[in-house]
Amino acid sequence: MIPLGTSDLAIDLGTSNTLVVVRGRGIVVDEPSVVAVERMGGAQRVVAIGHDAKQMVGRTPENIEAIHPIQDGVIVDFDLAEALLKSCIERALGARPFVKPRIVVCVPNRLQDVERRAIQEAARAAGAREVYLVGKPIAAAIGSQLPIERPLGNMVIDVGGGTTEVGIISLGGSVVTRCAQIGGKHFDNAITSWIRDRHNVLVGSRTSEDTKLKVGCAVSAEGSKTARVTGRDLSSGIPREIEVTSDDVSEALRECLEQIVECLRATLKESPPELAADIIDQGLVMCGGSALLPGLDRYLRDRTGLPIVLSEDPRRSAALGAGKLLEDQTTLSRVAL
Ligand SMILES: Nc1ncnc2c1ncn2[C@@H]1O[C@H](COP(=O)(O)OP(=O)(O)OP(=O)(O)O)[C@@H](O)[C@H]1O
Ligand SMILES: [Mg+2]
Repeated sequence: MIPLGTSDLAIDLGTSNTLVVVRGRGIVVDEPSVVAVERMGGAQRVVAIGHDAKQMVGRTPENIEAIHPIQDGVIVDFDLAEALLKSCIERALGARPFVKPRIVVCVPNRLQDVERRAIQEAARAAGAREVYLVGKPIAAAIGSQLPIERPLGNMVIDVGGGTTEVGIISLGGSVVTRCAQIGGKHFDNAITSWIRDRHNVLVGSRTSEDTKLKVGCAVSAEGSKTARVTGRDLSSGIPREIEVTSDDVSEALRECLEQIVECLRATLKESPPELAADIIDQGLVMCGGSALLPGLDRYLRDRTGLPIVLSEDPRRSAALGAGKLLEDQTTLSRVAL
């Protein structure tokens, strides 16, 4: 078998962010998964990708739209996902790589055949020579330094932008996996709804995300912070400023957080008893951008009784794990879906 070369890439094509690892160089691209397109008649033209496109969300004129081509972990707009992948590959390797790269892509575990084909085709169309798909929980477990090859229950939860993926891994394979359509975007929507219901003020998704990042927490705690938030008063139509506290956010997020608890419980219920015993003993590792929500570890520990350990670099665990697989063809061939 030909060894993987230096231009090989690992890509975590997430709902919120796309990360690219170049073998031997680490993470070289970390951009929002957003593509801005201008529509002219029936045609469309890509005008910005990544950070530049995210800046446009909620601020675009009528003919420009900022689109998330990946939603809940799967491609919903094939052409724009391909454009996003192409731009990431170009940023990583230059416009005309000497050899076409092999690419490892992190994907949700329960991928339908058509979704699997869509990702493979988008990666090939964007310049890949060979495409390997790896489940996110296993990639995240490797990126979090879990000893996945041992005969031991390793549990990981990845709370991302659009999905929560949970996996129990032993002897290098996923034994149980589960996914819930809940992530940071749903947190943002819950904050928008809470503000509308409580204050009769409408805020955009960027404002609710900013509020979450500034004062968000999973459990009401001492040192509650306050954010000033401006939205449109739904009665007068005029902009109005309100105050939102950490306690408000934890109240707004309660339902979302309970869905994550439910996903954890359901995964454990399906687990063979020996592996469940290992997990109760050693706990589980949490990663994904939303794992950074202050107090989420404590919330999940209190609600499930499981010890929760935050991964060292939660936002980047899956990408780093997929990157490690570029160095280890044997494990890659074994874990590829
Ligand atoms: N400090 C923080 N506190 C709370 N949430 C955060 C923090 N930092 C990032 N996030 C949230 O993390 C989410 C993005 O996480 P991540 O990059 O893991 O998602 P993704 O991999 O693109 O999505 P998915 O895996 O669901 O397809 C966003 O909703 C963002 O608001
Ligand atoms: Mg992710």
